[in-house]
Amino acid sequence: MRKIIVANWKMNGSLNFVSSFVTKLQQGFSATPNQIIICPPFLYLAFLKTALEGTSASVGAQNCHNLSQGAFTGEVSSFMLADLGCKAVIVGHSERRSFAAETDSMVAAKAAAVHEAGMTAIICVGESYAVRESGQAMNWVVQQLHASLPPSATPQNTYVAYEPIWAIGTGMTAHQEDIKVMHQALHQAMGTPIPLLYGGSVTDQNVGDILCLPHVEGVLVGGASLKTDVFERIITSHL
Ligand code: PGA
Repeated sequence: MRKIIVANWKMNGSLNFVSSFVTKLQQGFSATPNQIIICPPFLYLAFLKTALEGTSASVGAQNCHNLSQGAFTGEVSSFMLADLGCKAVIVGHSERRSFAAETDSMVAAKAAAVHEAGMTAIICVGESYAVRESGQAMNWVVQQLHASLPPSATPQNTYVAYEPIWAIGTGMTAHQEDIKVMHQALHQAMGTPIPLLYGGSVTDQNVGDILCLPHVEGVLVGGASLKTDVFERIITSHL
């Protein structure tokens, strides 16, 4: 079954990296039945988009502003990203919620702006270690999802990525049972079949098991998407 694989490069990469990434992954892109979205830093989007021409992979951004234009120094709007050929935008990543103080309502406004520009919003949710330890993870994440999902969200224009904060970049992937239970809860809470992705220390070693879980339609991959041989195995993993 076709899965969604999103690469989040975060603040990593260079022009040289973009070129070698696309060259090394050419075969993988043509071999995979999966939908691949690569999200580099803003300034490499146009170069990556050109480099990916002729492949089945598309480009996405890691953030955007919620307004279409104006006096917002240093910001980029969803319409500009769509203008460039982006197909998707990650919003509400826990790193932005933490260091850029993005609230649920800001995330919902950004997701709505992504929809308005005709792209897919990849809305991230996930609990901290303290919340998980308190036994409240499920309620907490469901509430966060309700507050981060704009009324414009449909299964055609939105993916929701469950990314437990403690699993991001730590090598501590969530247990399969925990992913299963959380995805079931999120699926029920949405009442509409918006595709659900899992993110948090996904590698070529665990991706097959994660993608087999019910209500896991894809993965959001950070660190492992920067290792071309590992990422190639992730996108071509047999499902
Ligand atoms: P990771 O990051 O795969 O390096 O844990 C995932 C993410 O932050 O989206």
